[in-house]
Amino acid sequence: MQKRKMITAALPYANGPVHIGHLAGVYIPADVFARFQRRLGSDVAFICGSDEHGIPITIRAKKEGITPQDIVDKYHTIIKKSFEDLGISFDEYSRTSSENHKKTSQDFFLKMYENGQFTEEVSEQYYDEQAGEFLADRYIVGTCPKCGNDGAYGDQCEKCGSTLSPSELINPKSALSGNIPVLKETKNWYLPLNEYEDFLNEWILEGHKDDWKPNVYGQVKSWLNDGLKPRAMTRDLNWGVQVPLPDAEGKVLYVWFDAPIGYISFTKEWAAKNGKNWEDYWQSEDSDLIHFIGKDNIVFHCIIFPAMMKAHGDYIMPSNVPAFEFLNLENDKISTSRNWAVWAHEYVEEFPGQQDVLRYALLSSAPETKDNNFTWKDFQTKNNSELVGIFGNFINRVAVLIHKYYDGVIPAGNENAEELSEISKAAKEINEYLSKYEFRNALSALMNLARFGNQYLQTEEPWKTIKDNPEKAANTLFVGAQIAVGLAQLCEPFMPFSSEKLLKMFNTEKISWKEVENAQILVKTGHTINESSLLFSKIEDETIDFQIQKLENTKISNAKTNPKANPMKEEITFDDFTKIDLRTATILEAEKVEKADKLLKLKVDTGVDVRTVVSGIAESFTPEEVVGKQVMILLNLAPRKIRGIESQGMLLLTTKPDGKLSFVTPDETVENGIEVG
Ligand code: MF3
Ligand code: ZN
Repeated sequence: MQKRKMITAALPYANGPVHIGHLAGVYIPADVFARFQRRLGSDVAFICGSDEHGIPITIRAKKEGITPQDIVDKYHTIIKKSFEDLGISFDEYSRTSSENHKKTSQDFFLKMYENGQFTEEVSEQYYDEQAGEFLADRYIVGTCPKCGNDGAYGDQCEKCGSTLSPSELINPKSALSGNIPVLKETKNWYLPLNEYEDFLNEWILEGHKDDWKPNVYGQVKSWLNDGLKPRAMTRDLNWGVQVPLPDAEGKVLYVWFDAPIGYISFTKEWAAKNGKNWEDYWQSEDSDLIHFIGKDNIVFHCIIFPAMMKAHGDYIMPSNVPAFEFLNLENDKISTSRNWAVWAHEYVEEFPGQQDVLRYALLSSAPETKDNNFTWKDFQTKNNSELVGIFGNFINRVAVLIHKYYDGVIPAGNENAEELSEISKAAKEINEYLSKYEFRNALSALMNLARFGNQYLQTEEPWKTIKDNPEKAANTLFVGAQIAVGLAQLCEPFMPFSSEKLLKMFNTEKISWKEVENAQILVKTGHTINESSLLFSKIEDETIDFQIQKLENTKISNAKTNPKANPMKEEITFDDFTKIDLRTATILEAEKVEKADKLLKLKVDTGVDVRTVVSGIAESFTPEEVVGKQVMILLNLAPRKIRGIESQGMLLLTTKPDGKLSFVTPDETVENGIEVG
């Protein structure tokens, strides 16, 4: 009996679309594996969904001036659709903002809490007084203590890859406001990872020395060698799953606590819809739990989540965690913020019907053991020389000749022909490689069968022998048909769209992997095949040049634009704009606001009236400096009380390179009360 396969793919953050790096390093290999396991007859649950919590999402929302929910709704939809379009065969693709997930992760936390698995610690955390928020992880930026990079985050330096905690940063600043944060006491719940060291040592370092990938094993080993420390599983934030305890208001579960539990929540959703028991997949020794991830997720899937499951007590441990390295694009690191990527949803639009080409190209350069590189030229070559030139060419010739010579009916041939053993040989080879998570080798084994078929036709030349040795020609096409159907069967995990087309073309059904391994004959003499159609078509230089040009344009605009500029906010209509009443105005009087270092109280002539405005400019200007200045005022902003003074409007300001403010003013003095538009 095959063990059940509980297969997960890292939940993508719903703060941007999916690109080829994600596809090559997680989703396509995971899909190949899941499809292959189904063909082996395993009971498979292939589960994924959007990771909708976490600070990158709230930061993006803030920058775009919309809510985190708006952000995740937008990207969840885009991501889900690209996966479907590319044939990623998730049994369930859900999202962590669902009610079910909230409950599942809160219950998980409570069970651990009740088991006494957390320690409570009051610690000093950075706090942004202006924003009124604690600054966890990415909310805080500063200089990396290890490499000096001045854009390091509170949880990680992306330049040198070190894992950091906010207190290690030099010159910390709030990512929300740029302000210097203060330290404030707060209570959080910690998982004492140090107490799991023995367990992890034995389970992974001793137990999986030979069957886990060296990159995964090596990373775990170095974490364990350095020694583990307690890690906070809660955060002072308002976006996330609430901590289900009475004294935990304003606190949510750490995103890396709730996200992996998403795998479980989503399995529950799938099981409920399909009459299955989710526990069979997560809590039974008959089940293999396999996590497909990128290398930056190793610690979470090999140390933290297993420790959580161990602490909870009811769960099995993953049997393997195949983690991939990174894919570069045209020799440069893929980057969402620099738009240096090939986006899945754009590919699907620009290459309609060519999903399998991308799947093939990405699999054949999957970053299995080291970082790898994607280039458009390489993509073109893989399509034109391999898919069109070998795979498609072989199958097309077989089908066309069978129609031409035999009216589409498979002719008689030697059912014990030696060449037929190549099919089962390929099936077994692919099986062996995929069982070891060697996707590139598996794909080569498939291509070798196509190569073999192509060469076979080339040597046998049925288009010649049909004239003087028709029996030989018939045999060649009989054997050719078997190999073609073999390819149709075996390419399904890798190129599902082409497999479906081919099976239709040969008027036959998908059979199990073992049947392909054991069979000699896949289509019988006398079987009628359907019209043949072209599987792959040549990709022209213009198409590739267009893609290269697109990347060139990105480079040019990256060089010109300010890399620190925030992305554009959500689009507004002209009507929205006309609601804004901007006027020229002159400052008549100015004085400091008591006990507020940043504020000046101003009297302003707006042309419409004279009113009071409180403005945060005292660190950039003295009161004397601003009197008499012409400025721009937002006139119809609802009045607000600031330090007890009612402020009626807002002055337009911008920031100079030295951090000081400067007024936005008309370039010549004009009358007050003139509208902008
Ligand atoms: N969202 C994370 C990332 O993209 C992955 C989360 S995987 C999970 O790096 F296990 F936490 F779900
Ligand atoms: Zn660094």
